[in-house]
Amino acid sequence: MGADIQKLKIPYFDSKTEEILSELEKTQKDFWNLDRESANFLNTLIQINNSKSVLEIGTSNGYSGIWILKALEKTKGKLTTIEFWEKRQSIARKNFEICCPNVPAEAKIGSAIVILEDIKDEIQNKKRNKFDFVFIDANKKEYIEYFKIIDTITTDNAVIVADNILSHYEKTKEYIQELFNNNNYQSQIIDIGAGMMISKKLIQ
Ligand SMILES: C[S@@+](CC[C@H](N)C(=O)[O-])C[C@H]1O[C@@H](n2cnc3c(N)ncnc32)[C@H](O)[C@@H]1O
Repeated sequence: MGADIQKLKIPYFDSKTEEILSELEKTQKDFWNLDRESANFLNTLIQINNSKSVLEIGTSNGYSGIWILKALEKTKGKLTTIEFWEKRQSIARKNFEICCPNVPAEAKIGSAIVILEDIKDEIQNKKRNKFDFVFIDANKKEYIEYFKIIDTITTDNAVIVADNILSHYEKTKEYIQELFNNNNYQSQIIDIGAGMMISKKLIQ
C-alpha cells in the first residue's frame, strides 16, 4: 500500500527519458543502480538545496546520473561523475546525451581517489570551483578516503549523500562514525533503498 502510494508521486519526465529509465531498471542488479525511489529522493534533495555543482562517485551506466541531471536541469547546474569502468561510462554518456542534452555533464574515467586528488589540485589552483553536492556510490571500503578529500573540495553549505550505508554497514562503518562525530557536519541515515546517509556541512 505504502509503496503504491509512493509510486504515484514519482515525477514524470519526457517519454524518451522514461523509456530509458525503464530499460535501465530491467538490468538494475547487473549495474548496481539505485532503485527508483532512492533516485527520486536524490533528485529532490538536489532541488531542495538548489545545488548547482554536483559530483557523483560511481557512474555505472548513468541511471542515477540521469536523475541528477534532471534536477540540475531545474537548478541550472552541472554534473561531474567518476567511473573506472570505461564501457559503463560510455553507456552513461549516451544516456545523458539522450535524456539531458542541455545539462553539462563531465564524465571522468579512472580510480576515484586518483581523480578526486586531481580535482583537489585543480580547485587549489583555481582552475575549478568547489562542489555543493556530492553523491558517493562507488567502493564502499573507500568511502572514508573519499570523504577526506570531499571535505576539502566542497562549499561551506554542501550536502553529501552516501548510498549502501545499511546494506554495507561493516564496510561503511568508519565513514558513518566519522560523519556522526564530526562537528562540522549534521548527518542522518535514511532507511530508503540500500540506506542513505545525508550529511550537511555546517557553516562555521
Ligand atoms: C553502485 S555502482 C554505481 C551506480 C550508479 N550510481 C547508479 O545508481 O546508477 C558503483 C560503480 O562504481 C564503480 N567503482 C567502484 N569502485 C570504484 C573506484 N574505486 N573508482 C571509480 N569507480 C569505481 C563501479 O565500477 C560501479 O560501476
